[in-house]
Amino acid sequence: MEIHQLLAAAAKPAIFQKGTAQMWTDDHISQQMLLAHLDPGTDAASRNLQTIDRSAAWIHRDICQENTSLKILDLGCGPGLYTNRLAELGYEVTGIDFSARSIRHAKEQAAETGLSVRYLNEDYLSCLLPDSYDLILMIYCDFGVFDEEERRAILGKVHAALAPNGKFLFDMFQPVRYRNHSDSRSWYVENGGFWRKDPYLCLESSSWDEKAGIHLDSYTILEEGRSVETYHLWDKTYIPDELTSLLQQNGFGKAEFYGDVTGSPYRNESDTLCAVASRE
Ligand SMILES: C[S@@+](CC[C@H](N)C(=O)[O-])C[C@H]1O[C@@H](n2cnc3c(N)ncnc32)[C@H](O)[C@@H]1O
Repeated sequence: MEIHQLLAAAAKPAIFQKGTAQMWTDDHISQQMLLAHLDPGTDAASRNLQTIDRSAAWIHRDICQENTSLKILDLGCGPGLYTNRLAELGYEVTGIDFSARSIRHAKEQAAETGLSVRYLNEDYLSCLLPDSYDLILMIYCDFGVFDEEERRAILGKVHAALAPNGKFLFDMFQPVRYRNHSDSRSWYVENGGFWRKDPYLCLESSSWDEKAGIHLDSYTILEEGRSVETYHLWDKTYIPDELTSLLQQNGFGKAEFYGDVTGSPYRNESDTLCAVASRE
């Protein structure tokens, strides 16, 4: 490997500059991710099991008013932890995810319990949203991962795919999450682990742009015989005011704000913000 490649990979990127690789669809990393999704006690790739149960119950009771004739779409459904629960409650559910491994797991779980769920292994940024829905979900702070143009495109697509009176429920981190953040850089060697099955060196950095409200975790991975890859995990944070104007600019009507996807009351000092935006 040439030194200039390494310098380029480890340099501070421009805001929302893409990494060189995608972690969710990588064969090895997606296996690690699936383990994290399915770990009942952690808030890693999915929230812990208790929180997921409380979320599904809140969505059923308060958001859908127990009207199980509603049609629900889950964007980035992962291994189907929300979709399968909602299908079990009686909703007609579609889940989209570009991780083939997660979709496979979601389908297997649905089949085991005799649930009928439509699972699509697609990139929701580029695929057509296949129907019209009463409720569209995007859970676990994925909205802030995308750059500004992509966030607007998502809002446009979601708006177009919502039925009249439909709602978009999604969560984000608030800037307060990073209030004690200090930028850092570190490195470590693993004899096989999260990023690769064989030995690798990881150069890790974390930075917070307070003015823009954008956080970045960046991982540069070096492994024998493979080109240097960099994974950028961006996070655009929001507070209700900024989000309200973005939603209005993209055709949405009123939004309700909560502290999280279990329906906790909104607090400006909570790490997360959950918005339920009405189409009209
Ligand atoms: C943080 S996980 C959350 C998964 C699920 N919502 C949950 O909370 O259990 C993000 C999910 O979004 C998926 N994802 C990210 N970008 C995507 C895209 N552009 N198209 C489809 N799926 C995507 C990933 O594969 C991953 O399963």
